[in-house]
Amino acid sequence: MTEVNVAADVDIKWVEVPEAQDIWEGDIVDAEVEGEQVVIVHHLDGTYAAFQGLCPHQEVLLADGKWDEETCVLACPGHLWEFDMKCGDGINPKGSTLYRYRVEENDGVVRVGIPQDGETHYNKSYES
Ligand code: FES
Repeated sequence: MTEVNVAADVDIKWVEVPEAQDIWEGDIVDAEVEGEQVVIVHHLDGTYAAFQGLCPHQEVLLADGKWDEETCVLACPGHLWEFDMKCGDGINPKGSTLYRYRVEENDGVVRVGIPQDGETHYNKSYES
């Protein structure tokens, strides 16, 4: 399982995401947060997760893909790569992992933690 991996000395900017306000359990939504494309998942168990919103393959918007809230699998609309949206790991193909952001929710208000490290928070896959 992919953990949120941010160095301890990196500041996190918590940014409210209006698009994710009160989304239903089992839904996903995409949003631009501080200039970064993010997909936010509200799982059926009530937890949230946030990942890079563009496919590691060819930067297609993942939220436009086929989403199965029961299995937590999202298939990219580009070429049907599949991702486990509990952890961001690639299912098919394996070895491609989505960047995972920190996320918190309080009274329906969702905030995503953007690391202030000057990096692009986007994992690119070099598989064809
Ligand atoms: S762009 Fe997502 S699988 Fe190709």
